[in-house]
Amino acid sequence: EIEDKGNFDYYMLKEIYEEPTIIEKTICNFTKNHFDLTRYNHVDIVACGSSYHVGLLVKYWIEQLLNISTNVEIASEYRYKKLIVQDNSLTIIISQSGETADSLAAIKIAKILKIPTLAIVNVIDSSIAREADNIIYTKAGKEVSVATTKAYIAQLLSMALLIENNKALFEGLPKELSHIIDNKMEDITQFAYQLYQSEHIYFLGRGVDYAIAMEGALKIKEISYIHCEAYAAGEIKHGTIALIEKNTPVIAIVTDNNIREKTISNMKEVSSRGANVLAITNEDILDFNNKIIVNKLPMIIQPFNIILILQLLAFQIAKLKGCSIDKPKNLAKSVTVE
Ligand code: G6P
Repeated sequence: EIEDKGNFDYYMLKEIYEEPTIIEKTICNFTKNHFDLTRYNHVDIVACGSSYHVGLLVKYWIEQLLNISTNVEIASEYRYKKLIVQDNSLTIIISQSGETADSLAAIKIAKILKIPTLAIVNVIDSSIAREADNIIYTKAGKEVSVATTKAYIAQLLSMALLIENNKALFEGLPKELSHIIDNKMEDITQFAYQLYQSEHIYFLGRGVDYAIAMEGALKIKEISYIHCEAYAAGEIKHGTIALIEKNTPVIAIVTDNNIREKTISNMKEVSSRGANVLAITNEDILDFNNKIIVNKLPMIIQPFNIILILQLLAFQIAKLKGCSIDKPKNLAKSVTVE
């Protein structure tokens, strides 16, 4: 089955541009109280790759907004470790394809342990969907590009809706993302020019900004083959700062007001050692000139415009490098073998 690229040269860009429409669809399809997370005392989220990164971000939301302890596991780890089953817990498996071997094994294990399961999957009737006690289908449509973009957004939004249980909150989001697509390409391209010849790029963030940074780093790694790593900003002094040299690129994500000053102080630490700090923030940071400023949004909505910037940035870097964007070397869309 060959999907139409429309007016786009790359599936990845086409799929990123579909995000506002997918968000609209996801909000429209959301039914209140479809699944009540608050019935549980503990949540385990198990996934691989970008779906795992969705889990890392969602953990902050579930803990902060629902006060439910949440643990996130990489499926290939979960399946071989001793599992300590918490009272009244739920296991959420997040998977675009619904076919990832390790995630499928994980849901089977949760079932054997008699833990209720919820699957967030994009492909209807996929193996993980068939195993799950409860399913929420993401509405991303078929994703062709190996590096996931629209499916990541759909997973994140499905979880956000589940947590907030109030779709009115999200109604402005499609416009927000269209605004980035229409207005921020120049800034993003300017960042890409600074980054595409780098050997290493470091990302810094705290809290949800750290979780987003991990996905941003993975996107660049996957399609540009540049070594990228994300760090919890407070951790850099325990090792990574030793790698900072003159002009080492450091992308800092700064959106969480409560810990903003802490991240800014880490940015100053790397900057004083010569790093080229590129900030992505929702409020101007006067000490830094190299920055993309996005609109400030409520806590549960903010990550969406940041991740869109990072997806577009990864795309632009790969394009400048002349990489095979939709089919990166050594990677598969769906990893159905161990
Ligand atoms: C592969 C894909 C990633 C994806 C991961 C998990 O590595 O290239 O984009 O995040 O598998 O896939 P899943 O289908 O389970 O979300």
